[in-house]
Amino acid sequence: MLPQSLLVAVSALAITTTTSANPLGKRCDASSTTSVVAAATSTATANDETTTPAAPTLPVTGGTSELPAANGTLIAVAVGHGIQNYTCTAANATATSLGALAVLYDITSIYASLSSDEQDQLPITLLRTTDLPLNLAEPLDPDNQYAADVADPWIADADVTLDGVDEPLSVLGHHFFDASLTPTFDLYNAADNLLFKGGKLSGVKAPADADPGILNTGAVDWLQLGDKGASVGLTEVYRVVTAGGGALACAEAGQVFSVPYAAQYWFYDS
Ligand SMILES: *[C@@H]1O[C@H](CO)[C@@H](O)[C@H](O)[C@H]1NC(C)=O
Ligand SMILES: *[C@@H]1O[C@H](CO)[C@@H](O)[C@H](O)[C@H]1NC(C)=O
Ligand SMILES: *[C@@H]1O[C@H](CO)[C@@H](O)[C@H](O)[C@H]1NC(C)=O
Repeated sequence: MLPQSLLVAVSALAITTTTSANPLGKRCDASSTTSVVAAATSTATANDETTTPAAPTLPVTGGTSELPAANGTLIAVAVGHGIQNYTCTAANATATSLGALAVLYDITSIYASLSSDEQDQLPITLLRTTDLPLNLAEPLDPDNQYAADVADPWIADADVTLDGVDEPLSVLGHHFFDASLTPTFDLYNAADNLLFKGGKLSGVKAPADADPGILNTGAVDWLQLGDKGASVGLTEVYRVVTAGGGALACAEAGQVFSVPYAAQYWFYDS
């Protein structure tokens, strides 16, 4: 097994070579005036007169299949850090998702100023160099040491400082599953108080060389989520550039566990 530092370096290099999207490609969209991102989306029309900064382009895995293109206007880009929760129905069963908890940090305004290598490195740096921004369950269970305190999982908003990023990143909001297990994104620090409640529209495997995470369980899939009707100001969310979060092997029925992960989240409205 490779030492962790080497794994990170290998992973970062490999991601770079598979990411061909150019985030600086010039585009403009007349309908983007309400967007946090002052520029365009994949539906944009070319406009040579534009002086607005280029819109970031959703990352691609570089594999044989990619997530469908986003329909709407890019509203925000975040990097999330938290846990994926799982449960087991039997020994050797594939664990099933029980939800997730993550703090979302705003990278909307800095994303385009980073190199594609730096963009891809953000979740890895967040996962491997900063503490989980959650209250953990006490007493700590040595077999499930990343479980959150179920009654009180959130800590007070605190900026995070990442190596290679000049400014501290501020909290945009929280990601969690609500009581009916609907993936929810509450961007309570956004200017418009954005809320997304949605379901999976499609998913693709993370690149084979994605960071496998703290527990070496692999990177969770990249996902496209669509609005389920209760969202405010958001219609689609993408989870991309994932690091960690994959399930452990199941040892017994009823086993529950939490796995640290980080990812980029891209928020759209159409
Ligand atoms: C689970 O897999 C292990 C290793 O292959 C095997 O020894 C064990 O019997 C399996 N348990 C069940 C319940 O299938
Ligand atoms: C797991 O995630 C769910 C959904 O967000 C959350 O309600 C629950 O408290 C979490 N459990 C643990 C042990 O972290
Ligand atoms: C995006 O547009 C495509 C093609 O019109 C459609 O099939 C898809 O359902 C749309 N996605 C969302 C989330 O609205």
